[in-house]
Amino acid sequence: MEPAAVSRNCPFDYAEALEFDPVLKHLMTEEPVSRIRLPHGDGEAWLVTGYDDVRTVTTDRRFSRSAVIGRNFPRMTPEPIVQDEAINVMDPPGSSRLRSLVSKGFAPRHMERMRIRTQHVVDELLDRMEKHGSPADLTEHLADPLPLATICEVLDIPEADRAQLRSHARTMMDVGIDNRDNAVRAKADLRAYFEKLTAHRRANPGEDLISTLAAARDGDEILNDQELAVMAMVLLITGQDTTTYQIGNIAYALLTRPKELAMLRSDPGMLPQAIEELLRFIPFRKGVGIPRVATEDVELSGVRILAGDIVHVSYLTANRDGRKFDRPDELDLERTGPSHMTFGWGGHHCLGAPLATTELQVALGSLLERFPDLKLAKPAEEVRWNKTSIWRYPLALPVVW
Ligand code: HEM
Repeated sequence: MEPAAVSRNCPFDYAEALEFDPVLKHLMTEEPVSRIRLPHGDGEAWLVTGYDDVRTVTTDRRFSRSAVIGRNFPRMTPEPIVQDEAINVMDPPGSSRLRSLVSKGFAPRHMERMRIRTQHVVDELLDRMEKHGSPADLTEHLADPLPLATICEVLDIPEADRAQLRSHARTMMDVGIDNRDNAVRAKADLRAYFEKLTAHRRANPGEDLISTLAAARDGDEILNDQELAVMAMVLLITGQDTTTYQIGNIAYALLTRPKELAMLRSDPGMLPQAIEELLRFIPFRKGVGIPRVATEDVELSGVRILAGDIVHVSYLTANRDGRKFDRPDELDLERTGPSHMTFGWGGHHCLGAPLATTELQVALGSLLERFPDLKLAKPAEEVRWNKTSIWRYPLALPVVW
């Protein structure tokens, strides 16, 4: 058992349509536990790319998220996107306590209400698109406004504040080096906003998710004021752009694959399963997210990771692991089998996954139903893709019907 010798520089800047990053692919097949350097942060990290190893790192207590706090860990963005108090960098038992409280906000009875709200928002957006007439940009009319409108509805954020909040969240995701000061300012502004809003909501509860979270109880446990403010902020930031981009990506994937599109149109009942497969297949981001730190020496796939080492996982490569999925690089809407890892895995699995899935199902289902002749308005090669942040998505998606 030897540590991998060579460390590679990994820009992870690949963003060609929905093609898979060849560097990630190479690492997964040739060196499933590899040593990498990233565009920002000090030193090196491990990158773990196979499905089973990713599952180990995300579920085994010997890998800690809180141990990254205070370390200038190798990462994709100039400024770490998360705050030190956020759930993303906590370990059990603190994280399990919070997750248990927050997941109450996404319980089936609340999800039912959220689905109805989502359907209203989607219907209104598609009415507007129809009124605008063919051709129209699907990004502008659906992908862009829907998740923000939905998460703001769900958190009950006043209409007048929404644009500013989105702009702050965008600034924090930007990977440009000269963006660091702006990112720090945006984070502080968002924090101040949510401290005020959540304090107000605790005193004057309504029907929204913040009020539900303020009242959530697990035995004697409740969320304190700071936890509530940070959680509301995390839900806003992580909740909107990811879903926007996935709506664009999924629509693009279907509109450029006539066979799969026809299959889905002829059997709309298969939509939930098809969306799971699309989520598996689509490389929705560049590179990696927040790492963990090994708290003791651990062996993974024959490589020794030492206590104190930084460890990144790739959910993207796990989704394409040929040891887990037959024909991993093929989009097969009828696929059943292991769950994808697009919402992460283990102790930090996406808390908003039920809401995100609802939004995708309602948006794509309504779109296909209302526009039976929907097509891309230009050749697929002419669609322009985002190159400037960690997310991969079409900048615009012109369609005709
Ligand atoms: C399609 C859209 C989405 C995707 C692809 C996505 C994906 C992810 C991923 C990969 C993680 C991180 C797992 C890790 O740290 O290892 C995550 C965490 C998280 N997501 Fe999502 N997400 C989406 C939508 C949402 C929405 C709509 C919300 C909120 C309403 C949300 C809230 C969260 C939260 C709070 C966490 C942190 C969980 C923790 O660290 O314990 N996400 N998500």
